Amino acid sequence: MKVLLIGSGGREHALAWKLAQSPRLQALYAAPGNPGIFEHAEPAGINPDDHAAVVAFVKDKGIGLVVVGPEAPLVAGLADVLRAENIAVFGPSAKAAQLEGSKGFTKDICAKYNIPTGAYQRFTDGEAAKAYVREQGAPIVVKADGLAAGKGVTVAMTLDEALAAIDECFGGAFGEAGAEVVVEAFLDGEEASFFVLSDGQHALALATAQDHKRVGDGDTGPNTGGMGAYSPAPVMTPAMVERTMKDIIEPTIAGMAAEGMPFSGVFFAGLMITAKGPELIEYNVRFGDPECQVLMTRLKSDLLPLLYATATGTLDQVSAEWHDGPALTVVMASKGYPGSYDKNTPITALPATGDGEKIFHAGTALKDGQLVATGGRVLNVTATGATVAEAKNRAYALVDGIAWDNGFCRRDIGWRAVAREQS
Ligand code: AMP
Ligand code: GLY
Repeated sequence: MKVLLIGSGGREHALAWKLAQSPRLQALYAAPGNPGIFEHAEPAGINPDDHAAVVAFVKDKGIGLVVVGPEAPLVAGLADVLRAENIAVFGPSAKAAQLEGSKGFTKDICAKYNIPTGAYQRFTDGEAAKAYVREQGAPIVVKADGLAAGKGVTVAMTLDEALAAIDECFGGAFGEAGAEVVVEAFLDGEEASFFVLSDGQHALALATAQDHKRVGDGDTGPNTGGMGAYSPAPVMTPAMVERTMKDIIEPTIAGMAAEGMPFSGVFFAGLMITAKGPELIEYNVRFGDPECQVLMTRLKSDLLPLLYATATGTLDQVSAEWHDGPALTVVMASKGYPGSYDKNTPITALPATGDGEKIFHAGTALKDGQLVATGGRVLNVTATGATVAEAKNRAYALVDGIAWDNGFCRRDIGWRAVAREQS
């Protein structure tokens, strides 16, 4: 089968690397791609925002499956355009992508289908939101409704912080995304990410992960897209996975189907494991980045049939096997990230990698034959191990072999799991 992969991040490099290992793959194309992805795929040379060009490319090359990595093309309806042409596509419709695109939409689905999540209210008026927050008291969580690049959420430990967050949202800090605000009860517990494939009807649980959103060691500083991750998440025991499937994922699949917008693609459920059990914090409708990098490293099965079954409603006919040992990835970013940073800084050396080691590319480019950093998050240094501690040591040994003056990373990825192993 010929596959077209949409995206240009570390997540898509991991997908390309794994797809390239499939005995069923005939050819892999990617757009926009990056130098890491192009180690495994041919450049498609098309703009994914140009839906007509994507359709024309698929028909011209005889592509059997389109895999959409990021959320933006999904929210923009790329999967709908392809499905209308009877092209198999991995990724939800624009309507179903509202599970990521609108926090209020997701909360309403949770309420209607009895999915455990924090109590909430939606507001389009600042004064009403403030009155509710005063009534509920702190701690409380204030969220811009729409996509705000991970910056639209304030976990307010005091009433003043919550009131300021409401002013910020309605003051236009997040543009259109903040025109509506969701105020939600604070959930106390340990967070985990859970990935599940759905073809609209059936579900296939993949694996769990934990990420590190803050830029600094010890989980300090501003939020980022993710500075590192490991899989599996120790808090997600088999019993907890089973309960999450039954209480959260299966009702969501049934609910979305009943709403006339069946969900086809991957659920990336952000969970809080509270004293009451798993509660949903949020859904994303794509693989996590960098969570995908550790998932693909741990996946034993061929990825291509899993994505194809998801796209074609045959998920009940496939299964996924995983390596037992953990995988961990360290994100190397440009100095200054998540604020402003210099572009086109040279990466002069990457170390050789052995079995169970891989350096995925995110924001890189080749300029006159020289690898340069063009983005905020640039390299995802990934390793497996018998323990998280071992995977961590291997990943940091690789990090230390990278020659890139303008790069930095957290030095403590996996610290919670390592502490757990040592206790
Ligand atoms: P989100 O963008 O919805 O994933 O929120 C970003 C982060 O805010 C989450 O990863 C949690 O750490 C935190 N968060 C969101 N909602 C809640 C909540 N209801 N209670 C506690 N923490 C939350
Ligand atoms: N690493 C978090 C995300 O992909 O949203």
